Amino acid sequence: MILRHPSRTNDFITYFDKVERIYRLLSRKKQAEANGYLSIYGKAARTVYESFIFGCWPRETSPTILTIRIAMAIVLITGATGGLGRSVTQQFLQGGHTVVAAVRDLQTMPTQEGLHPYTLDVSDEQACRQFVDNTVAEHGAIDVAVLLVGGFAMGTLLDTDYAAVEAQLKINFQSAYQVARPVFEQMSQQPNGGRIVLIGSRPALDPTAGQHVVAYALSKSLVNSLADLINAAGKKKNVVATVVAPSTIDTPSNRKDMPDADYKTWINPAELAEMIAFVSLGAGKTLREPILKAYGQA
Ligand SMILES: NC(=O)c1ccc[n+]([C@@H]2O[C@H](COP(=O)([O-])OP(=O)(O)OC[C@H]3O[C@@H](n4cnc5c(N)ncnc54)[C@H](OP(=O)(O)O)[C@@H]3O)[C@@H](O)[C@H]2O)c1
Repeated sequence: MILRHPSRTNDFITYFDKVERIYRLLSRKKQAEANGYLSIYGKAARTVYESFIFGCWPRETSPTILTIRIAMAIVLITGATGGLGRSVTQQFLQGGHTVVAAVRDLQTMPTQEGLHPYTLDVSDEQACRQFVDNTVAEHGAIDVAVLLVGGFAMGTLLDTDYAAVEAQLKINFQSAYQVARPVFEQMSQQPNGGRIVLIGSRPALDPTAGQHVVAYALSKSLVNSLADLINAAGKKKNVVATVVAPSTIDTPSNRKDMPDADYKTWINPAELAEMIAFVSLGAGKTLREPILKAYGQA
């Protein structure tokens, strides 16, 4: 969460625990308006100001009636209906953030406060750009983008023809690239930059694991390279791409596909979601070029 004083719009102060308390206080007093602004008056304003803000801004900028923008982050998520996507979506919603979720079928997303489903096929590059533009037009910024669309295919080098590689490139790399590019362009123009989270995988980092899933490993290795390129280009703009590389995630579809597997070694999607929130909006924001190998006990 970001607290922004209207008279000093370039000053951002991040106070996760404190803003949580302010938000609770304010939401009792007055519900957030649709655009994310809260107006607070008199005693409540003074309390909030004295408790949390003084020291961050000079006292003379304090108005009697203080309008504070409680800028819950604007979080864009693709693959929000997937096994991991559902946990990530809930993680950000529970943090009070606005989530713009790209889905193929609106019926697959429940109605929930703070959740804005958007119909998108990520294989359509023009539609991806439009998705980013429309999100910015409606919400003003994109603070975090979590690009989760992806797929999986088995196959050794001998089993894998180029068509199989291309199919994996499409689902894992093209899906990330076509959204990451306009997102990067947008974040580069924002005073506070932004955070992009991409999902890699262990086989892309470990050829011993990769040899059995060649097309998948190749496509995810391009995701790693994309993060490197974003980080090189985004360095001065405070735009950071993180790669989260999980081993097998404990999703309903993995349980269905591998009924005899040992689920205990799998990665809990809710924990991955927490990790993603940590690198995007938590203390992990200070990380640079992170690759998080979420392998657990596997
Ligand atoms: N599951 C694992 O064990 C595991 C391990 C390592 C890495 N990963 C990676 O983690 C990410 C999430 O995995 P997951 O298990 O959550 O995947 P998943 O359950 O298969 O979900 C995939 C998501 O992508 C969406 N999608 C697919 N094609 C799309 C398109 N053309 N346009 C828009 N949306 C599209 C799906 O939407 P629909 O609901 O419409 O189908 C779904 O929301 C992927 O990148 C995956 O490669 C997964």
